[in-house]
Amino acid sequence: MKRKPIVAGNWKMNLTWSSCVRLAQTISDNLVSTDCETMDVVLCPPFTSIKGVSNVIDFDHAPFAVGAQDVHWEMPDGVAACTGDISVEMLADLNCEFCIIGHSERRDDNGDTDERINMKARLLLEHNIIPIICCGESEEINKAKQTNEFVSGQVRRALEGIDPRDIGRCVIAYEPIWAIGTGNVPTPEGAQDVCATIRNTLSDLAGEDIASEIRILYGGSMKPENAEVFLKENDIDGGLIGGAALDAMKFLDIIKICQRVKGLS
Ligand code: PGA
Repeated sequence: MKRKPIVAGNWKMNLTWSSCVRLAQTISDNLVSTDCETMDVVLCPPFTSIKGVSNVIDFDHAPFAVGAQDVHWEMPDGVAACTGDISVEMLADLNCEFCIIGHSERRDDNGDTDERINMKARLLLEHNIIPIICCGESEEINKAKQTNEFVSGQVRRALEGIDPRDIGRCVIAYEPIWAIGTGNVPTPEGAQDVCATIRNTLSDLAGEDIASEIRILYGGSMKPENAEVFLKENDIDGGLIGGAALDAMKFLDIIKICQRVKGLS
């Protein structure tokens, strides 16, 4: 099964509107439209700059997609008494094609539970926005050798009760918490083992055919120096990039490495 790779940049709480637009423009200037025919490139700026990045897509015909970093778990019903939150309709209105959910920073700092992540995934799918569902273990769980069981449980709960065809539209990002922003990474074989477990879990939930089509990304200190070894693995279909995505040249390098390793160039 040939899956379309994804390289997604998670810009987190970095960059003002003008810096986001500049970064998106630099990436656009260095990508040719054919670069994105065989793979998806996704930029996930802070909420306040989604419109700025989507303007670059509209005006420059940039070949990437824009995504959000989170969404509220409920549809506003009548009065939307959710100060400070962003609804799925607001993201759809800004032409967001993807949305990260369940990032460990949102789980830890904003009280995201598996149940909420499940609700977010359903809402996004209903609005034709592809959820990028993050999962990943802490250092303690990793040391206790319980990673596969833990990550598999996160994926099961995030997708519980969702129609198998809709599960097939989701993207999963495996991000060990201890690797995020630290410079530490698992071995490529270790990451592949967890991603294979994720695919087996998806197969239990949605059947083998659908599971074989779902894109699974690796995230956590991915950079040009280490991207190749992860992207070479069978069950790793791309990367969710934090720090290195803030540097246009590093991000573009990872895109090129992905194209080469996956046989697209
Ligand atoms: P990092 O972040 O690449 O800076 O480790 C990845 C992420 O948090 O998605």
